[in-house]
Amino acid sequence: MDKYLVTGGAGFIGSNLVEALVSEENEVVVVDDLSMGKYDNIADFVGNGVTFYQNSITDMLFMQNLLKDEKFDYIILLGAVASVADSIARPQETHEINLEANLNVFETIRKEKIPVKKILFASSAAIYGNDPELPKKETSPVDPLTPYAIDKFASERYAINYGKLYGLPTVATRFFNVYGPKQNPESPYSGVLSIIHNCLLNNSKFTVFGDGEQTRDFTYVKDVVKALKLLLSTKEALHDVYNVATGNRTTLNDDIHAFEQAMDQKLEIEYLPARAGDIKESYADITKLKSLGYVPEYSIEKGLREYVKCAV
Ligand code: UD1
Repeated sequence: MDKYLVTGGAGFIGSNLVEALVSEENEVVVVDDLSMGKYDNIADFVGNGVTFYQNSITDMLFMQNLLKDEKFDYIILLGAVASVADSIARPQETHEINLEANLNVFETIRKEKIPVKKILFASSAAIYGNDPELPKKETSPVDPLTPYAIDKFASERYAINYGKLYGLPTVATRFFNVYGPKQNPESPYSGVLSIIHNCLLNNSKFTVFGDGEQTRDFTYVKDVVKALKLLLSTKEALHDVYNVATGNRTTLNDDIHAFEQAMDQKLEIEYLPARAGDIKESYADITKLKSLGYVPEYSIEKGLREYVKCAV
């Protein structure tokens, strides 16, 4: 049994991770200000393995005291402004949340010489921007275009280089398009699969931006949780960054078809012009993660079937 700190633990990926950690009898402390996350996502576990603090990770003193007072084995930094559009509307606040709050954690651990087994920072495929190289390797050129991507990239570098400079046991991930239960479908910038799910549930019309032939490397959240656990437990995954994806690409049209089959229902669709700045093709090379023993379990069909079952 280990003790974990999960920032953003009431959010989509965070709450799925928390559920997995608690089911293995670990003790988990969640810090989340519920600006994007939902208490309901973790309500069943609070008091049963989870301690919840409704605090912003930008509350520097709170975070410093928490790190000093509790003896965490593992720290997973998922708390963030998670929407690119939101980051464009609030660049300075994004910077405080997506960069300075993480730096505060690294710096507190460095200054106070707090012993931890591993610190994992969650970065994003967004840092690759529009560079055309495919599939994306960890060594591919980066082109962070938005406040979200800029701060994710900088925090990722801080994580890795706090490891190299000061010996903190850090590792970072770059998530591709993650989907699954507890993803919030309510914003137009929500993950497309959660929007499609919502449209199918409510019999409402779904808008495809473009011709639907754009590709993505959609990754089921359970595969993401599996990758996170592997990176935390693998000693040689240190001071380095790993793509987290499936290594396969599907078109949006394929995904719609798979969703219709999983729900045995037809989706009403309208086509509108592609979104400005939309990436046509995205998928990951996951050789590096696989070299640690990672095998993704969920094809899009399998992931959508399970997603539909979990959401009932
Ligand atoms: C994702 C990230 C984004 C990041 C980018 C970098 C999400 C929600 N967004 O964007 O933060 O910058 O990767 O790789 O994870 N679509 C529709 N109809 C809709 C919504 C979306 O057709 O109602 C289309 C989009 O135009 C896009 C595709 O579906 O072509 C996927 O969209 P989305 O889920 O928003 O993800 P990304 O655009 O890949």
